[in-house]
Formats: sequence, C-alpha cells, structure tokens
Amino acid sequence: MAKRQIVKEGDPILRKKCRPVEKFDDRLAILLDDMAETMYSANGVGLAGPQVGMLRRVVVIDTGDHLYELVNPRIIDSAGSESGSEGCLSCPGEWGMVTRPKWVKVEAYDRHGNRFEVEGEDLLARAFCHELDHLEGVLFKDIATEMLEEDQ
Ligand code: NI
Repeated sequence: MAKRQIVKEGDPILRKKCRPVEKFDDRLAILLDDMAETMYSANGVGLAGPQVGMLRRVVVIDTGDHLYELVNPRIIDSAGSESGSEGCLSCPGEWGMVTRPKWVKVEAYDRHGNRFEVEGEDLLARAFCHELDHLEGVLFKDIATEMLEEDQ
C-alpha cells in the first residue's frame, strides 16, 4: 500500500464528475488500498476518488468501526434530516454545518464487482452523503448552512 497526495480545494479535479468503474481489476484493488491508507494516515473518516486525483466513482469510509469500500455507490433510500458539523481532508481547518439525511441506504459494488447494500445512520449517513457528493464535484462548503470558526 502507498499513501497518496490529498488534492486540496482550488484544484479543478475536485469539481469534476467522476466516471463509473468498469474494470474490477488489480488497479482498482491498489487504488482502494491506497485510499484507505491515505485516509487513516490523515485521521479522516472518508475519502473519495477525486481527492487522490482519480475521477472514478470510488469511496472509502471508516467512522470508527468498519472500513467501507464503495465502488459506483448510489443512494437508494433516505429518511429524516439532521444538521451537524462537517469537515473535509481537501479543505483543512474548515468546518461547517450541513443538513443531511439521518439515515441512508446505499447500493454499491465491492472490489470484486459484487453488488451489496449498506445502511448508515447519523455520522455514517453523513459520511456516505459527503463522500458521494465528491463524486459529483460537490464540496460540503457548497451546501453548508453556516461555516464555523476554524478550530486550530
Ligand atoms: Ni470531503
């Protein structure tokens, strides 16, 4: 595994829409491994393809108890609404209040191309929504209702 450089806000790649993954090959496996290592070493809870310079629909998330690898993910159901603070590894030191669904169900594929569904609540639902937004070129700041004071 290898740590990759995290793309920061201002780089146009963060504003582009990602293409679906078509080949579930070794390159995809390496990308997913590298993204997890990059996320963990930056103490993040999620990372999306564009944040490592890859315009592919891939996301890794770990809010504390499980590593989720989502390939070609799609939100297929959601419920409720919750406002909470959010940050992003591509926007260091910035935090904002964002309203997200309280619960979401996501359809995705694993690294071998097997379809699965996963549900998330609260922070996990927020992470799913935040990372999937990255695949559309959307940053949390675009939809924040309020930006908070920098915490460091
Ligand atoms: Ni982010």
